[in-house]
Amino acid sequence: MGDQFVETLANDPTPALRWEEPPEGPVLVLLDQTRLPAEEVELVCTDVPALVEAIRTLAVRGAPLLGIAGAYGVALAAVRGYDVDDAAETLAYARPTAVNLAYGVRRAADAYHAALTDGADTERAAAAALAEARALHAEDAEASAAMARRGLELLTELLPGGGYQVLTHCNTGALVSGGEGTALAVALAAHRAGELRRLWVDETRPLLQGARLTAYEAARTGMAYTLLTDNAAGSLFAAGEVHAVLIGADRIAADGSVANKVGSYPLAVLARYHNVPFIVVAPTTTVDLGTPDGVSIEVEQRSGHEVTESAGNPVAPLGTQAYNPAFDITPAGLITAIVTENGVVSPVTPGDLAALCSPRAPGHDQVMG
Ligand code: MRU
Repeated sequence: MGDQFVETLANDPTPALRWEEPPEGPVLVLLDQTRLPAEEVELVCTDVPALVEAIRTLAVRGAPLLGIAGAYGVALAAVRGYDVDDAAETLAYARPTAVNLAYGVRRAADAYHAALTDGADTERAAAAALAEARALHAEDAEASAAMARRGLELLTELLPGGGYQVLTHCNTGALVSGGEGTALAVALAAHRAGELRRLWVDETRPLLQGARLTAYEAARTGMAYTLLTDNAAGSLFAAGEVHAVLIGADRIAADGSVANKVGSYPLAVLARYHNVPFIVVAPTTTVDLGTPDGVSIEVEQRSGHEVTESAGNPVAPLGTQAYNPAFDITPAGLITAIVTENGVVSPVTPGDLAALCSPRAPGHDQVMG
């Protein structure tokens, strides 16, 4: 990526998603993440099937942003007069693992139905769904800022020497958030504090969210970063070059098991072997207390073509079978801390995790043991 390219991006921040109301009718505009970093192209969704397609193809992706997109999707259906319950059902199951998607859909659909129950007509009920989507969007931005602050405090406590060399996996920045993201927002806070010496970016096979998206975000924010193939992480740990791992989450079960992009679990095992903190950063909207444990989390299986082909070109003999889970599960015992907007859980215990997720729980900040 040349300097000129980076400078152009830095001058032209494009939000991952926005609601617009042109004269032809409301639309949801998405930055097409499948085209990054080569081009910033926007997708305009005028209906729910277009949004579902964008979710399935990962044009819009990442747990918190999927929640926001799902909520706006329900609002879009309501405002344009489509069947809201059908829309909510299709959206909620477009991708099964990231719990935020179903959560965002449910919030907007509940707001719509609550308004109808209160005597609103469908137009006012649609406005209520849209207001709920906007509220979720704003809450996610606030949560992101709080996680960045708490995550940086945790790094300062765990690594008092400063000059962090942090490894991250997949993409967890502004592209997945109403704000600056989850794990990458913590790295960015460290960078702004002058304490990030190096961000190690796993390329994240097979769809390269690290190489394409995290490197794009690191470049435009001026972080010192280095890209590595996922299978180079072991030797990097062995060389003592990784001080901490910072990753996001797509669903956190009640027992503290974390579903995140496939390749996260091997990093947790490496981190434990090398005595390196393994830190998960996610908003409480990613915690699903209704899923008891990691085994109960549905892991999305994606097409084998994502493994047997690269940019449409075959990299394996025709007919090769591929194993392509989109996520893996890291048990709580391998996780040093979970950082949420409400506080940090460390060690990760079911009780402390549940306490962070209860709006009435006192002493959110003191959960860290
Ligand atoms: O399949 P994706 O690209 O939607 O993957 C999800 C993710 O972005 C990661 O697993 C991430 O760490 C959690 S979302 C901040």
